Amino acid sequence: MMSNALMNTYGTRALTFVRGEGSWLFDAAGKRYLDAISGIAVCGLGHAHPAVAATLAQQAATLVHTSNLYNIPQQEKLGETLCRLSGMDKVFFGNSGAEANECAIKLARLYGHRREIENPVIIVMESSFHGRTLATLTATGNRKVQAGFEPLVQGFVRAPYGDVDAVRTIAANNANVVAILVEPVQGEGGVNIPAGNYLDELRALCDQHQWLLMLDEVQTGNGRTGKYFAYQHNGILPDVVTTAKGLGNGFPIGACLAKGAAAELFQPGNHGSTYGGSPLACATAQTVVDTLVQEKLIDRAAALGEKLLADFRAALDGCEQVAAIRGKGLMLGIELKKDCPELVAKAADQGLLVSVTAGKVIRLLPALVMTDDEAALLVSTLSALVRELA
Ligand SMILES: Cc1ncc(COP(=O)(O)O)c(C=O)c1O
Repeated sequence: MMSNALMNTYGTRALTFVRGEGSWLFDAAGKRYLDAISGIAVCGLGHAHPAVAATLAQQAATLVHTSNLYNIPQQEKLGETLCRLSGMDKVFFGNSGAEANECAIKLARLYGHRREIENPVIIVMESSFHGRTLATLTATGNRKVQAGFEPLVQGFVRAPYGDVDAVRTIAANNANVVAILVEPVQGEGGVNIPAGNYLDELRALCDQHQWLLMLDEVQTGNGRTGKYFAYQHNGILPDVVTTAKGLGNGFPIGACLAKGAAAELFQPGNHGSTYGGSPLACATAQTVVDTLVQEKLIDRAAALGEKLLADFRAALDGCEQVAAIRGKGLMLGIELKKDCPELVAKAADQGLLVSVTAGKVIRLLPALVMTDDEAALLVSTLSALVRELA
């Protein structure tokens, strides 16, 4: 099925699904596919989760939308839950990851102006991905995402990911820096996992220079890496954290959380969204978050992630095509020595959905509810395919 009515942003797409259940997607012919991408780190609870479906149906039949002209109790409750889970003080709700990051970027600029810095600058990283709006594509460290959309937005400088000395050098040369925006693990950039103390060192630099540490947890958040937020592996607190994706399990919602001075910056009129934080979005996300916590799925993500990593390392031991296998919780990457564009279609033929990012990194983002048997099938199917890549 292909329609000429759609703008050509995604190219030709080979597959169409009509139904999902847990870690499985089904096409119209009834063929089932083991989904190791989860809608790009979105459906952590799997497809058609009964509790999420029930909340959606019940809230849709009660009240979908009122706008932010009025109090929204579901928004207040979800905000309190997320603040408790994150250690942040306040939240703003939008509808996507890019919007959450736009909110963070606006906070950084307000923070700079408060400090009488006329042209505030945010440090961003190479190979990062922060979204497709003009400010977030400027923050993104990938020329392909930016090309053709110049003039880009001012006020960003870039450092290599994982390189704290580069950030120190920027600090020594640029008095306009007000914040760092960084992913705890780079997703789109190739499942890049920095040294364990990277965030601690960035936190210390931010404290030293009175910068905001702003973490993009759009992909890493909501249990994906084995903690509710990935920074909780380090025991630090950021000033700002953004999330989306897994928060709604497929219902669009994004959140920008902030602590301390950053939480007090916005005043009425500074920021807003017609849809952001609707009763339907917040009730649904509340069920997602409650389910993640109550069913201990975040611990499950940590344990299953470790098992998948060990099993892939064993299954691909000595395989010439493989350059590295890495992962944090259920964010896993198998880096090949050369590009493998054909792998996605070959896997789909065998009923397995994976993605390839940064050219040669097979990226796996399984649901947190994936069973041991499904995980074993993922390892055996994918390892055989990788070994066949001559
Ligand atoms: C780290 C990160 N930030 C931001 C985004 C953008 O989120 P959205 O597509 O919901 O705007 C993504 C999406 O892949 C992401 O991985």
